Amino acid sequence: MANILTRTANNVFGWVTDRAPGMMPMYRKHMSEYYAPKNFNIWYYFGSLALLVLVNQIVTGIFLTMHFKPSAAEAFSSVEYIMRDVEWGWLIRYMHSTGASLFFIVVYLHMFRGLLYGSYQKPRELVWILGMLIYLVLMAEAFMGYVLPWGQMSFWGAKVIISLFGAIPVIGNGLTEWIMGDYLPGDATLNRFFALHVIALPLVLLLLVVLHLGALHEVGSNNPEGVDTKHGPKGNRWDANKPIDTIPFHPYYTVKDLFGVGFFLMLAAFIIFFAPAMGGWFLEHDNFTEANRLVTPEHIKPVWYYTPYYAMLRVIPDKLGGVIVMFLAIAILFLVPWLDRCKVKSVRYRGLISKFMLMLLAVCFVWLGKIGAGPGTDPVETVIGRVLTFLYFAFFITMPVWTKLDKTKPVPERVTMHD
Ligand code: HEM
Repeated sequence: MANILTRTANNVFGWVTDRAPGMMPMYRKHMSEYYAPKNFNIWYYFGSLALLVLVNQIVTGIFLTMHFKPSAAEAFSSVEYIMRDVEWGWLIRYMHSTGASLFFIVVYLHMFRGLLYGSYQKPRELVWILGMLIYLVLMAEAFMGYVLPWGQMSFWGAKVIISLFGAIPVIGNGLTEWIMGDYLPGDATLNRFFALHVIALPLVLLLLVVLHLGALHEVGSNNPEGVDTKHGPKGNRWDANKPIDTIPFHPYYTVKDLFGVGFFLMLAAFIIFFAPAMGGWFLEHDNFTEANRLVTPEHIKPVWYYTPYYAMLRVIPDKLGGVIVMFLAIAILFLVPWLDRCKVKSVRYRGLISKFMLMLLAVCFVWLGKIGAGPGTDPVETVIGRVLTFLYFAFFITMPVWTKLDKTKPVPERVTMHD
């Protein structure tokens, strides 16, 4: 029996490779002969975890779409219907809503890894740029998704954020109206956001992820030491011509990543089953009430993953100024590969200045996030927010200086972990 099965599988495989001869070389290039540095650490789980969450969002999203009604009159009650009456609907919805927050947790850690190990430096600038484009699209995707259940925060969040375009001189008001398709968020807004959220942006996201990985596999992965394994000594036990400190991605990292997936799924299951709203951080309390254009919620604020930028918007006294600062805060991240003038990649071989600055950036970002999630009424907090915004920008603007001044240690030819 086993023999017949093996023979049939081989025949099918042979039939396919005869007709698609490019398939096996592609598999080899990206999996079994993609030689990755052998010293990946915990920070290297987040790329594969981001892929996992992306798949989760697409699959659960498809099932939600089967029952969701994209109209202002029915959206809220169709979500209630999914939660109460559709078989396992509550699980699908919580997997999707929790997935959104987990996506950002994973992506922020993934980006911070890039900063820690200088993974954006030459020759991986394109990998970083494509990553940043993914980040932008992801923010748009999550924003539109949050509008769909048509709760109070969906409506008022959409109103506040779309109205930001109104700060643009001359075209602002027309642009706001054009985006909403109305004078307030309404049926037209919900319809177009649904189309963009379920079709257009996921397609763009998928394409960008393929390009992101394609670009990475052209130049090879960086590693926690920032050692250039590709051009270092050759001759490992799989291939005498391959870099000595690398191992084939499959099966070594596929198996290692599976361990990360197991751990991550336990954490995700815990949140989904026991704390899907996460005390209002993942699903805001106000969004359990249907949108009402006559009742403004007490505090309008976006979900946690936008709050660092939202804080910047709020602490700047001028509306247009705030909008510009907020957009620049994201745009400046694109320039990191060119702002960093350090001759070593990893923080491990950089000096105290780099370590301090990276920590400062992380503190500013998290603290701003906390301020942005608050009511925004405390004047002391507003001043702190301004200082943090200043420090955030100072990190990037002065980066060419401090990365040059910083004392570096010599980077070894090989990664320090030998087997
Ligand atoms: C949907 C979102 C994303 C997915 C699915 C994704 C996926 C991946 C995967 C699978 C890897 C290889 C494994 C690893 O190094 O962890 C990777 C590497 C990388 N990603 Fe992403 N990524 C995403 C978003 C981003 C973002 C937002 C950035 C930064 C702006 C970014 C920057 C990088 C960099 C610099 C590398 C190379 C790291 C190295 O070799 O040290 N990625 N990504």
